[in-house]
Amino acid sequence: MAKIIAGVGCSHVPAIGAAIDLGKTQDDYWKSLFDKFKRSQEILAELKPDIVIEVYNDHGTAFSLQYIPTFAMGVQDEFQPADEGWGPRRVPVVKGNSEFAWHLVESLILSEFDMTIINEMEVDHGLTVPLSLMFGQVDAWPCPVIPLCVNVVTYPAPTGHRCFALGRAIRKAVEEYPKDMRVVVFGTGGMSHQIHGERCGLINSAWDKQFLDRLTSDPIGLSGVPHKQYVTEAGAEGIELVMWHVMRGALNDDVDELYRVYHVPASNTAVGNIILKNRGVN
Ligand code: DHB
Ligand code: FE
Repeated sequence: MAKIIAGVGCSHVPAIGAAIDLGKTQDDYWKSLFDKFKRSQEILAELKPDIVIEVYNDHGTAFSLQYIPTFAMGVQDEFQPADEGWGPRRVPVVKGNSEFAWHLVESLILSEFDMTIINEMEVDHGLTVPLSLMFGQVDAWPCPVIPLCVNVVTYPAPTGHRCFALGRAIRKAVEEYPKDMRVVVFGTGGMSHQIHGERCGLINSAWDKQFLDRLTSDPIGLSGVPHKQYVTEAGAEGIELVMWHVMRGALNDDVDELYRVYHVPASNTAVGNIILKNRGVN
């Protein structure tokens, strides 16, 4: 039977992808950030996932403003890195798992989470930067990845509570899958940032850190935080953090925090990473 062994929360700052692709990780600006992620990569290697379900947001790349699904899942066997204006990132193609993805889609829709089904799409920095941070610069990603897109680009994004409930439905779907498989769920995006307007450059470290603390200790209470608080405290793009609730909802109530990164700044953004292991699951 498939089981969820761990969850990962991870930022997706596009400049991090550019720093990796352009060989700048040892530059003064970047070195201390990339040093912190070495331990994350060791832990992911120890966890040995057979598959990752990556909850992320597209940034007007796969979806134009014509079509904006609230929740969508990629069911292809392969996803090419998208050209976001400066050429595709120099990262491996993302392999999916069509059979497992269709199982998830079926189970989630029957659990009343009406996924949009994506038969064809490319993936942008929202998906590939967390993969780079968790798996490093590799010739091939170590396991298949199922993309689960959440709209956080156009108002209204789904609530934290709804995202947490989606995580619960993902857990049920995974546990129904008959093949043995170690599943890790990524919730990506964030942390505090605002990349436009009068408050451009806003970073709120105190708010970010209590978000990381409560993810372990008070996940249900945290999922009830209203949108307005994200925008007020963590900036307009801080709303990306609602995707972390999908990851947390997919885990058990009791988790062990294996590791955490908090780094300021990268571009205009506070960078976070948390790795939570389901207690008692090996
Ligand atoms: C930045 C952060 C993002 O999450 C994004 O999607 C684009 C830019 C930034 O900090 O520069
Ligand atoms: Fe973003």
